[in-house]
Amino acid sequence: MCGIVAYVGERTAYPILIKGLQRLEYRGYDSAGVALFNGEIRVYKCKGRVKELQLLARDKEIDGSIGMGHTRWATHGEPSDVNAHPHRSMHGTFHVVHNGVIENHAHLRRELVNRGYIFHTDTDTEVLANLIEEIYREQHVSAEVATRLALTRVVGAYGLAILCEEEPGQLIAARKGSPLVIGVGEGEYFLASDAMPIIEYTDRVIYMNDDEVAVITPGGIDLKHLYNDNDAKTPEITTIRVHIDSIDKEGYPHFMLKEIHEQARSIADTFRGRVSADGNKVFLGGILDVMPRLIEARRIIIVACGTSWHAALVGEYLFEEYARVPVEVEYASEFRYRNPIIDERDLLIAISQSGETADTLAAVRHARASGATILGICNVAGSSISRETDAGVYTRAGIEIGVASTKAFTSQITVLAMMAFLLGNKRQVLSPEAYHALVAGLTRVPGMIDGVLATEGQIKEIANRYKDATNALFLGRGILFPVALEGALKLKEISYIHAGGYPAAEMKHGPIALIDEEMPVVVLAPNDKLYEKTISNIQEVKARRGKVIAIATRGNAAIRELADEVIEIPPCDEAFSPLLTVIPLQLLAYHVAVARGCDVDQPRNLAKSVTVE
Ligand code: G6P
Repeated sequence: MCGIVAYVGERTAYPILIKGLQRLEYRGYDSAGVALFNGEIRVYKCKGRVKELQLLARDKEIDGSIGMGHTRWATHGEPSDVNAHPHRSMHGTFHVVHNGVIENHAHLRRELVNRGYIFHTDTDTEVLANLIEEIYREQHVSAEVATRLALTRVVGAYGLAILCEEEPGQLIAARKGSPLVIGVGEGEYFLASDAMPIIEYTDRVIYMNDDEVAVITPGGIDLKHLYNDNDAKTPEITTIRVHIDSIDKEGYPHFMLKEIHEQARSIADTFRGRVSADGNKVFLGGILDVMPRLIEARRIIIVACGTSWHAALVGEYLFEEYARVPVEVEYASEFRYRNPIIDERDLLIAISQSGETADTLAAVRHARASGATILGICNVAGSSISRETDAGVYTRAGIEIGVASTKAFTSQITVLAMMAFLLGNKRQVLSPEAYHALVAGLTRVPGMIDGVLATEGQIKEIANRYKDATNALFLGRGILFPVALEGALKLKEISYIHAGGYPAAEMKHGPIALIDEEMPVVVLAPNDKLYEKTISNIQEVKARRGKVIAIATRGNAAIRELADEVIEIPPCDEAFSPLLTVIPLQLLAYHVAVARGCDVDQPRNLAKSVTVE
C-alpha cells in the first residue's frame, strides 16, 4: 500500500520517478507526488493519479539528479493535494515519503505542537517529518542520526525515503514492516517499494530488512541497524530475474484481461521443472528440507487474505481429500488476535501473492514463536514473507499488476495441488497409480484453458445483459465453494455490484430471500459427485424466478433446460475444477466492470499490496 520510488545518481531523476510511480500505481492511486533536489528541493504533488501529477509538472522545473516519489493509498487524512506525499517539515529542512502507519502519531503530534510546531495536513507522515527536524535542530546531529533517533520513538510500520535540504547529495531510507528494495547501478542507486520500477535499469538489488537505515549517495550505500550505528552492514546483493515485457499490456486493454488470458502459461510455469519427465511425479525443491516435518505434521494451518485466502480454502479440500491431513484455514488478520493454539507439531502455510501483506506477515511472525514449521507460497521472489518462512514454493505466475488477482490465484492452487498430491504419496494415502494419475492430470490443465477462454465472447454478451444488476449470488459446493467466494469477490472488487458467495445448500438459510427476477445467481455445476444436489439448488432458484448463469461441463444438455445461461468448461477431474471454473467468473467480472465503465485495473479504494493492518 502506497508506493515509494527514489533515485540517486547522475541522470535526471524526474522521468525515472514518473515511470517508477506508474509501475507502483497498483499499490495505491489516491494521490501522487515527487520531490526533486537541485540546489533546493522542489515538490510537486496532487490528488489523483500519476497522470495528474505529470500534467501539474508539465511546465515546471524538473531538473535534479536526486529525487523521490510517492503514490498514495490514504490511511490518515482524505485523498487531497495537501495530504499527498512528499511531506515537508515545518521549517522545510526535511521532506519525507512514507508507506505504512505511525500508530503513536497523535501523541507525537501533541508533543510537537507544544514545542511550537504547526501542522498543515492530517497525515501521520508530517508528524515524522517534524519529529526528525526537531531532533536535527535541537541536538545538532546529522540528518541520518536525527532520522534514527526519531525512528526509535516511533511505534508502527514504515518504509521511508527522506531528503534533507541542508545535506545535499544523499537520500536516507529506512524500513520497518513496509518493504523497500535498493537497486544497485553503476554510480547510481534506485529505491522502491518493490523491484518493478528498478528492473529496467539493473538486476542487482538489496532487500532492506526491518530496522535498517541506509544513507545512499552516488558513491555508495551506508547501511546500518537502527539501534546499533557501530554495526555497519555489508549489503547483500541479490540478482533478480524479471523480464521487462511482463509489465506491458501486450495489446490487451487492461492488465487484468492480459493476466486472465495468461493462465495456461502461468499454470504451466508453476509446475514446470517440478514434475518428472514422465509427467507423473512431483519434486518441490523449496520444501525438500522440511518434508519430514510436513509428513509428520498433525495439522496444517493456512493463513492468507483476500483471494489468497480463497486459494487456501481450496487447499483445505485438496490436503484433506488427497493427503488426509486436517487443515484449518484462517484469515491472517484474525489469527494472531485470538490466541491460536499452535505448537511445534503443527505446520503453518502462509499464502500471499505479493509476499508483503501486513497481516499475513504478522501471522507468520506470530506463529514463529510457537515452534511450528512455517512454509510460504508467494509469487514475488525475495518478498518479506518468502524471506521469513522456513521453506516455501514460489508460484512463478509472473508479475501480476491488475489489482484484482487472477493468475496468482490459479498458480497458488496449482502449488497447493502439487503439495497435496506429493504429501498424499509420501503418507501412503494415495496409491502410486492414483498419485501418478493426479499429477499427470494437473499437467493437462493448461491444455484445457484455451477451451474455457474460448467462451469469452458469450461471457461478454451475458455481462452486457446483467450489467445493471445491483446484487448477485455465487453458489458452489465442496471444492467449488471457495470458487464461488472468489467469483463474488471479483465482481464486487471491480464492478462495485454487491455479491455474495455461498455453499449452494446454505442459500436456503437466508440468501434465498433475496431472489427475485432481477437477481443473477451464478452456479458452479460441473459433472462432479455433488452435481445432482447442485441441480436441486438451481431448481430452487428458478422456482423463485431468479436468473441462473450455470458453469457446466461441456455437452451437458439437461442443464440447458433449467439455466438461463450455460457457460461450458471441458470435462476434468474434480481436483482441477477450481482451476477451470474460476476463469469464466474472472471474465464475467471483467466484462461487467467494463460494461459499467469501471476502472478495471485500479478499482476505487483498493490496493494490490496491503501493507498496513
Ligand atoms: C489485496 C488485493 C487482493 C489480494 C489480497 C491479498 O486485497 O487487492 O487481490 O488477494 O490483498 O494479497 P496477497 O499479496 O497477500 O496475496
